Amino acid sequence: MEGPMLPSDRMIHRSVMTAQVMEFLSIRPGAWYVDATLGQGGHTEAILGQGGHVVAFDMDPEAIGKARAELLPRFGDRLRLVNVNHRNMGQVLREMDLHPRGVLLDSGWAMPQADSDAAGLSFEATGALDMRMDPSLETTALSLLENSSIEELASILSNYGDEPLAMGIARALAEARGRGRLPGTPKELAAFVSGVYYRKGYRRSRRHPATRTFMALRIVVNREIDSLVLGLSGVRPLLESGGSIVVLSFHSREDREIKHLFRNWSREGLGSLPFSKPRTADKEELRQNPRSRSAKMRVFIAN
Ligand SMILES: C[S@@+](CC[C@H](N)C(=O)[O-])C[C@H]1O[C@@H](n2cnc3c(N)ncnc32)[C@H](O)[C@@H]1O
Repeated sequence: MEGPMLPSDRMIHRSVMTAQVMEFLSIRPGAWYVDATLGQGGHTEAILGQGGHVVAFDMDPEAIGKARAELLPRFGDRLRLVNVNHRNMGQVLREMDLHPRGVLLDSGWAMPQADSDAAGLSFEATGALDMRMDPSLETTALSLLENSSIEELASILSNYGDEPLAMGIARALAEARGRGRLPGTPKELAAFVSGVYYRKGYRRSRRHPATRTFMALRIVVNREIDSLVLGLSGVRPLLESGGSIVVLSFHSREDREIKHLFRNWSREGLGSLPFSKPRTADKEELRQNPRSRSAKMRVFIAN
């Protein structure tokens, strides 16, 4: 959902910043690596291709199924697939008695999911306004709109979406709720937010005006930032000495959390940061892969 998508971009997912990720994972053949966000399997395949072994997590059964069909027959027991939320990865790895040499977390969703009508992520979807990637989560996007105060809605849109019209959209939603006219589908919500933009005098934008609103609701519904911090905090103590954690994030709030987490760890003497400003994609990738535009990479190396 980052940046405008061309028709062909909607169909395929290209892994982001693979060369930089591989540089910092610095694969040692035979060692174990964790891919916390398997997705379409691009990064996992790159690690396996250099001789690493991978434990890959994804809470989306489709991502796991795809890797089971396409990667397991090629890489066999060098690949283990785990269909759980990565917030629990520390516990899962302890149960496997596994100490990884490196961890990659490429946050967010893959393009096919961002287009998925089922989860209500596409601006065109006409199903329920749900947005849960994991059906065991309780809050849906609609229940957030139904139950949050104006201030809570504005703070969700501003903190998780960097939405400049957060208060205007929150007020309009609360007013629609009062009249029993809340948007009930993603398509209606997208049109509703576009209407707010239009009334405020914004007639043109590079992205769909609802992009930030959808991103904010998605992050809150799926508790993405908690999962990220919990998952990485669980896996850090298991890392081999000299092993690295590489995180790609696509949103300023996520990047801030990772920055603080890694800085705290390095101040506590648990490891070091090879660079302090996040790395971004190079020009060629920016041109070819729209998803790379907002990517920020941070790395922590364990003592
Ligand atoms: C951007 S994609 C990863 C793309 C992957 N690196 C590649 O090269 O194809 C992110 C994936 O992480 C999964 N995901 C997001 N949050 C998760 C979580 N908390 N636990 C487990 N999987 C998660 C999504 O289902 C999605 O498949």
